[in-house]
Amino acid sequence: MNHSSLILQCDPESLARAASMLREGKLVAFPTETVYGLGADATNDRAVAAIYAAKGRPQFNPLIVHVAKIEALDSLIVWNAAARMLAEAVWPGPLTLVLPRHPHCPVSRLASAGTETLAVRMPSHPVAQALIERAGVPVAAPSANASGKLSPTEAAHVAESLVGAVDAIIDGGRCAVGVESTVVSWLRHAPEILRPGGVPREQIEKILGRPVAVAELSAGEDSPAPSPGLLSSHYAPRAALRLNALFAEGDEALLTFGEDMHVKGGTLRLNLSPSGDVHEAAANLFAMLHRLDAAGVSRIAVMPIPEEGLGIAINDRLRRGAVR
Ligand code: TXA
Ligand code: MG
Repeated sequence: MNHSSLILQCDPESLARAASMLREGKLVAFPTETVYGLGADATNDRAVAAIYAAKGRPQFNPLIVHVAKIEALDSLIVWNAAARMLAEAVWPGPLTLVLPRHPHCPVSRLASAGTETLAVRMPSHPVAQALIERAGVPVAAPSANASGKLSPTEAAHVAESLVGAVDAIIDGGRCAVGVESTVVSWLRHAPEILRPGGVPREQIEKILGRPVAVAELSAGEDSPAPSPGLLSSHYAPRAALRLNALFAEGDEALLTFGEDMHVKGGTLRLNLSPSGDVHEAAANLFAMLHRLDAAGVSRIAVMPIPEEGLGIAINDRLRRGAVR
């Protein structure tokens, strides 16, 4: 491992270089439409183990494997008709499917963290697509941040969080969606949302033509969570978060949403979306929390965000970020 990660632009030569680094078993952080991913060749045990080490991630928390083409999954997972329908409707895009591993799946067992399942996704970001295509291997990639911390939506966030632990970072600017993919699993017969994310539940229900349950997100330490990544504290800024605040008190910074002229207080104020648009708020969420952390504030009051559409994913991240 090096001590200063190589920052690459997204020109064809840099992408070719990053792709060959992946094939050599190195770790390359790259932009996706949701957040930056910390990528490694998913078929290489040592490279996948290096992801866990770089993030300080518990080995029981499995990884998402990324592909550039839907056909690349035929030898990795076992499809069912509904999963296929959802994939074809949404991909490329912010959706992850958890399905049984194919009997001859070449992906490292470490990426499945001891389960018989694999999480798979086809991202829409052109840089992610070009990189995976050129690498010619499925790419395992969790969010490119130290375990439990804020997710990265800019290359600089990756450099700060994983300093020295990643071989290269491809700078593709800011991520457009800003919250991670929606994770849908078929492990208990019916489809179930394990993590709310960039594709709203209503859209998934419309495509499948049936209601889709959201897994109980509050699984404790001793009851196994449906998605092992759903630990109670996650996505956490350094500052303490106070949610659904109607004003800021004392030394609190303030993260507002929508019209905020009459909202009082805030040593430092940032507005997630002055027009009250949850898409804009999702795209700004992690970047603004990073900015407040960088400014050294110790407490952040956050105004209520509507619990609908992408607001559900935003509130999920905020609730987990508020757990100490
Ligand atoms: O948008 C995203 O999904 C980003 C970009 C980089 O693709 N990736 C991402 O990865 O958020 P990560 O590792 O930070 O979160 C993956 C989530 C975790 O909650 C993990 O527990 C869950 O997906 N997961 C992965 N594999 C799983 C499996 N086999 N069964 C159940 N849950 C799984
Ligand atoms: Mg993550």
